[in-house]
Amino acid sequence: MRSIKEPADILDPRHYAAVRRPTDLAEPLPPWCYTSPAFFEREREQIFFKCWNCVGPMSRVAEAAGSYITFTYVDVPVVIVRGNDLKLRAFVNSCRHRGQEVVQGSGECKFLKCPYHAWAYSLEGELVGTPLFEGHDQFDKNEYGLVALKLEFWAGAMWINFDPESGDLLSYLGDLPERTKAWHAEDMVCVSRVETVINANWKQYYENFSDVYHVPFVHTSSLPFKGHAKREWHNENYIGNYIMHRVWFPGTRSIPDEAKPLPEIDLTSDLQGAFYPWIYPNGGMSFTNDSMWLIELYPDGPERTLHVRSLMVPKASAALPDFASIIVNYENTLALITSQDVVVLESQQRSVHSPVYCTGRFARMDKLVHDSELWILDRVIGNADGQ
Ligand code: FES
Ligand SMILES: [Fe+2]
Repeated sequence: MRSIKEPADILDPRHYAAVRRPTDLAEPLPPWCYTSPAFFEREREQIFFKCWNCVGPMSRVAEAAGSYITFTYVDVPVVIVRGNDLKLRAFVNSCRHRGQEVVQGSGECKFLKCPYHAWAYSLEGELVGTPLFEGHDQFDKNEYGLVALKLEFWAGAMWINFDPESGDLLSYLGDLPERTKAWHAEDMVCVSRVETVINANWKQYYENFSDVYHVPFVHTSSLPFKGHAKREWHNENYIGNYIMHRVWFPGTRSIPDEAKPLPEIDLTSDLQGAFYPWIYPNGGMSFTNDSMWLIELYPDGPERTLHVRSLMVPKASAALPDFASIIVNYENTLALITSQDVVVLESQQRSVHSPVYCTGRFARMDKLVHDSELWILDRVIGNADGQ
């Protein structure tokens, strides 16, 4: 019986030669790419620690100085805090004394104070208090501030980068800000944020986002409220670290036909329908005629992923007196879509564990999935020339 087991030399490009073929001839990534701690560790180093990662709407952090949130991203505790100048800053949430997480959860504070031995950091990350720490004439507080992470903003969302040498976010995004500027996402408000734990490798979701093949089979009861006139897949006209697909249809397909829609955003006819960019590695977006939703993935090891979906709408829509009764239909559709995806993703994850699992082939409608896997290989293994 043929089987595909994780090899000892996991980074040898020959294990991925079949993935490198043209889509019609290619095989999907070998199963260990979804289960292996070694492969995941390589993804941390080569992808998550080098790329811009989406960590949600800016409104996650309240407006007042000292407001903060914490979260864990690929095993790194992170705090984002609003300074006395009201600017947002991101830091590794690890105390420079002996590594305690400095703050927990979210809230508001005057200082970031470690609960272990009470070292205190300013809202700008400087070490300002070290109680009972005496007699160290060779200790300079200025050298022991919180470790800063790059934090930049686009589309009303926060993006972090662990690599001090990285380029800026806008260069990373390429032409995406220009292509989506008509939505004015930076002026939208987040009206809901839903967390879902998916017992699957993060790439299962990432690939599924661009997998148009599954939609008529998995989302029979959630998405095909309306047919579509035209579809476009990512091609060389789209510049930047993202992959996209676009579907043209009138109105919205986020609610049943009889339900009341949100007011339409002022968009030209070429922007009607839905535009779905996945920003490598962890951020997905859907720009529609009346709203935008944003996905963040928080990989937790190779087999578990926290999926967070924020629904963003124009301020005027959120202020409608009957907004609550309108938005509930959008929420129900999004919840149903996610639950349908979770069923197939967790099933797929269980299956790739099998010691006799063998990879198959891509359909032509899997083209973007194949492209997504090549993006992974280029970074984890190196490109086809072994670079
Ligand atoms: S670990 Fe934070 S003060 Fe000791
Ligand atoms: Fe789906």
